[in-house]
Amino acid sequence: MKNTVIVGAQWGDEGKGKITDYLAENADIVARYGGGSNAGHTVVIGNNTFKLHLIPSGILHSGKICILGGGMVIDLELLLQEMDNLEKKGVSTGNLRISSNAHLILPYHRVIDKIQEERRGSAKIGTTGQGIGPAYVDKVARSGIRVIDVFDEEVFDKKLRFNFEDKNLLIKDSGLILEKIKSSVIKYAERIKPLVCDTSLLIKEAMDKGAKVIMEGAQGTLLDLDFGTYPFVTSSNSTAGGACTGLGIPPQKIEEVMGITKAYTTRVGTGPFPTELSDSTGEKIRQVGAEYGTTTGRQRRCGWLDLVIIKYSVRINGITGFALMKLDVLTGIEKLNLCTSYEYNGSQINYHAARIGFCHSERSEESQPEILRDAQDDCGAFDRKIKEFPQSLRILEECTPRYEEMDGWQENISEVKSFSLLLPAARKYITAIEDFTKVPVKIISVGPERNQTIVR
Ligand code: GDP
Ligand code: IMO
Ligand code: MG
Repeated sequence: MKNTVIVGAQWGDEGKGKITDYLAENADIVARYGGGSNAGHTVVIGNNTFKLHLIPSGILHSGKICILGGGMVIDLELLLQEMDNLEKKGVSTGNLRISSNAHLILPYHRVIDKIQEERRGSAKIGTTGQGIGPAYVDKVARSGIRVIDVFDEEVFDKKLRFNFEDKNLLIKDSGLILEKIKSSVIKYAERIKPLVCDTSLLIKEAMDKGAKVIMEGAQGTLLDLDFGTYPFVTSSNSTAGGACTGLGIPPQKIEEVMGITKAYTTRVGTGPFPTELSDSTGEKIRQVGAEYGTTTGRQRRCGWLDLVIIKYSVRINGITGFALMKLDVLTGIEKLNLCTSYEYNGSQINYHAARIGFCHSERSEESQPEILRDAQDDCGAFDRKIKEFPQSLRILEECTPRYEEMDGWQENISEVKSFSLLLPAARKYITAIEDFTKVPVKIISVGPERNQTIVR
């Protein structure tokens, strides 16, 4: 087992929860590094289905320490509900640890999330309504309330009053009462008090003794605040770098970055989605894959696998291996399409062929060594042609996906236990992904259960 980051390579809901649970068996610590209850990680174990929003998916293995990292935003009421639900199902939450640095989501964040979405009108993001954006705004504005603050009543009171006043214009008609929020948060905090600690230090001490850590991401690369399809993103860094900042783990401690991708693409919420299918195939994928949101119940938009974004994910996250999820869902589709490039303004943006970058005459390169000149060839933001995943949302919206057609397979693959026993067409599909991305598919998932997992 290596210290592994689990990162969504698409727009979330790739199956991070299932793979975290699967790999957790050989780990000592499972730590969530970002996001909050916008996440919904479903883990199926026999007849039990667990829907986790805040608690790491490692909790379903006894004896693992499960950490809610400092990069998270936590609604204490929801956290306690989730803990109670797990306990009711016989899952112990005694090994949970909560970073004292994590920020709190308070009732006014949810109110503001809703108001802001209404104000955006047709440009709405389609947030999960969990108050995520407003809580991270407070964090960045340096007025956020951290878990540790709640245990010092004077500090908590001062910060809460400041925030309440500061947001008065937005929340004045919400019926929220400061004193009520204060007393309930203090009550919740008493319950979590034994679990709160310096989780970065805990991880460091454990790693020094040889403990292995899974860093469980939420959301996905295309929802990352900096590298996603901004502004149709979440408000945190869901990419692999977020594991370092969200947990206080130095980058060189990361030994593996497991990119989780579905065998097709889904997205919930608004924003561009080049390979989206608005036809009966898209509907079939939605039905067979049960593509409805875990947190909001919304329909997920479905489409073909987009290798342009997967390759982008490899670059941003340093993905060392893929877990290819829900391959079983594609069974029965006669022809499958793999998107390998985009076309924009009629000129194909081909990964393998296009080589147009900065206009060299526009820049002084006299003092640059050759390797730097070459590196700049492909990354001009205003280039006449685009080779990589475009940075401009408008360009992305206007891109037409170009596909390579592949044969599908008709027989059920959900009981297959090894790569060599998969149908030839399914193997070819996997090999095509590896050839394009130059990254091995290390895990193939053919059903939601633990034993429907092929490891190569
Ligand atoms: P996460 O947010 O990345 O953890 O993903 P979600 O849990 O939101 O969505 C993945 C859904 O697919 C869950 O309901 C899983 O139980 C289910 N699932 C995971 N892997 C497979 C698979 O290989 N095949 C099928 N049919 N379902 C899967
Ligand atoms: P998991 O961890 C899929 C999406 C929302 C919306 C955007 C912003 O289960 O993969 P937010 O509430 O974060 O401000 O919403 O991000 N989104 C997700 N989509 N899976 C998730 O988490 C998501 N978390 C946020 O739908 O488009
Ligand atoms: Mg999910």
